[in-house]
Amino acid sequence: MNIRPVRVEDLPGMQACNLQNLPENYTMKYYLYHAMTWPSLSYVAEDHKGRIVGYILAKMDEDEKEDAEPHGHVTSISILRSYRRLGLAKKLMVQSQRGSMATIYRASYVSLHVRKSNRAALGLYRDTLGFTVQDIEKKYYADGEDAYAMRLSLKP
Ligand SMILES: CC(C)(COP(=O)(O)OP(=O)(O)OC[C@H]1O[C@@H](n2cnc3c(N)ncnc32)[C@H](O)[C@@H]1OP(=O)(O)O)[C@@H](O)C(=O)NCCC(=O)NCCS
Repeated sequence: MNIRPVRVEDLPGMQACNLQNLPENYTMKYYLYHAMTWPSLSYVAEDHKGRIVGYILAKMDEDEKEDAEPHGHVTSISILRSYRRLGLAKKLMVQSQRGSMATIYRASYVSLHVRKSNRAALGLYRDTLGFTVQDIEKKYYADGEDAYAMRLSLKP
């Protein structure tokens, strides 16, 4: 298994992985926007044949307020079912945060949203990576489920 920064030719594989794993899907234009604007924040996990088995799609948040601290945001992360519990998601998160958000973009924290019912993702974010819940966003998802808005400080 290999983890590396995203390349444009990976985007269809990432989109396919997303479609298999999550109801929150995005246009190819949105993937391209991430990859072109913040190429060092999104990563893929590939198997020995170069097939995309997982990805993290991340960006810097474009907060208009002048005093807003620069911060990263995880738009989406998923791992194909048969490759789960191998530590891939944790590695993708750490690569994106510590490798690039903090060093290149000087992000002071990283944020994300997660469904209240998503036990696996909550385990990853809260228990393994140390994210904390900032807020509950009511009916954040299209099907009416609430989201936890979570954050992790990237300050040394
Ligand atoms: C959430 C997801 C990305 C985790 O990917 P993964 O590669 O299996 O996660 P890792 O192997 O890196 O797990 C790291 C830690 O997260 C936690 N975790 C992962 N899966 C878990 C599960 N099913 N139940 C409880 N905790 C879990 C554990 O603490 C785990 O550490 P451990 O294996 O040492 O116990 C994966 O389950 C997935 O793709 N789910 C569908 C898409 C999704 O929900 N994405 C997140 C949207 S916010």
